[in-house]
Amino acid sequence: MTKKMWGGRFAEASAASVEEYTQSESFDRALYREDIAGSKAHARMLGVTGIISPDEAETLVRGLDQVLSEIEAGTFVWKRELEDVHMNIERRLTEIVGSVGGKLHTARSRNDQVGLDFRLHVNARLEVWRCELARLVDVLAGRAEEHAQTLLPGCTHLQPAQPVSLAQHLLAYAQMFKRDHERLADCLKRVRVSPLGAAALAGTTHPIRPDLVAEGVGFPATFANSMDAVSDRDYALEALFCGSVVMMHLSRLCEEIILWANPNFGYVKLPDAYSTGSSIMPQKKNPDVCELMRGKTGRVYGALTTLLTIMKGLPLTYNRDMQEDKEPFFDADRTVSASVSIMADMLAVLEFRPDAMLAALDKGFLNATELADYLAARGLPFREAHHATGAAVALAEKKGVRLEDLSLEELRGFSPLVDQDVFVVLGHGAAVRRRSLPGGTGPDPVAAQLAALRGWLVSV
Ligand code: ARG
Repeated sequence: MTKKMWGGRFAEASAASVEEYTQSESFDRALYREDIAGSKAHARMLGVTGIISPDEAETLVRGLDQVLSEIEAGTFVWKRELEDVHMNIERRLTEIVGSVGGKLHTARSRNDQVGLDFRLHVNARLEVWRCELARLVDVLAGRAEEHAQTLLPGCTHLQPAQPVSLAQHLLAYAQMFKRDHERLADCLKRVRVSPLGAAALAGTTHPIRPDLVAEGVGFPATFANSMDAVSDRDYALEALFCGSVVMMHLSRLCEEIILWANPNFGYVKLPDAYSTGSSIMPQKKNPDVCELMRGKTGRVYGALTTLLTIMKGLPLTYNRDMQEDKEPFFDADRTVSASVSIMADMLAVLEFRPDAMLAALDKGFLNATELADYLAARGLPFREAHHATGAAVALAEKKGVRLEDLSLEELRGFSPLVDQDVFVVLGHGAAVRRRSLPGGTGPDPVAAQLAALRGWLVSV
């Protein structure tokens, strides 16, 4: 028999290298709060069901509270040889309360225990992500409101396409982050299921009440199948997927800010506090925050791929492979929450340059669709209108002028349907204003979109 908690049938101690290789204490100690909350709920349930006496339950709960304060005070001595957070806490509890500490693990296994701890942790962290995402949407809405009148070239293929308002462009990102927030809410429904009571894999013969444990930790549901309960990591995978989508959205925004900060665009001036210089080129101001955020997106995708790969092909039920689920999540969590919050901070102070955006509208024939639509509205089949406009663009390009710099006669050369009023239609402001249907870039739909977002923000 060895000194391990599970050492009854072992004659020899673990090799030191094995102890180090198999331990999770170095990282899963981050779950101490959840582990203690889960154990307290379990102890109370054991007391209510009469599996232990109410006094014993009370002793366990008080002992667990003392362990918690020791950990928070920094006086708790973590022991690597105790393998993980669960056994570290249980061992100390037993030192404090004596042999009744050994009753805590009645009708419980580390398999359902770790499942509950991790679910509680993922739940708490996703709530933090949601708060940060809501703040980001709020900042985007605020900046959009400021720039309802600012126009810039909207692109497809990164080529000038049609003028849009900066508000519409920023609110496109607000919509993405709002969906991310909603995706997390959906994911949380599946996170908030207590696996406690599944025990090792088959359930238990003790007359437990898993619903009381779920209630005790604030989860609305309990497991339906004990084998699934101890081997499911879908909730962490979904969380990592949600985090990956958040990072993908952030990295797209980063890419645009990086482009916009290039003097050839000049649409934004990077705040000093969110950029860095070069050690050799004195003029440089680099968008490192955005670049790193774009780069860190890879870490979060990596975490998702890591856990998918860990889970692939695992037979039921718990396998030790699953201990590898935590570090990728912890790393992804640090990355996602820092990235969302830094993006919100940076966007709040990012300086937009409406003049540079306006000047850019003169390059790239962004009003060509206006001319084609103008002709189509006058009865020309759109395909012919498109063709005639293309020819007008070719002429303007050859002459090195804008479409609206061509004379009425020149324009009429492409279609006799053109009149003097075409020059109003070719104005960029008009192009934006005329897109007044819901969801379009016109001032009315943008205002409606903002109002809806504001309403959503107060509801979350
Ligand atoms: N440290 C383990 C983990 O993170 C706890 C569960 C261990 N269970 C077991 N049967 N060895 O997964």
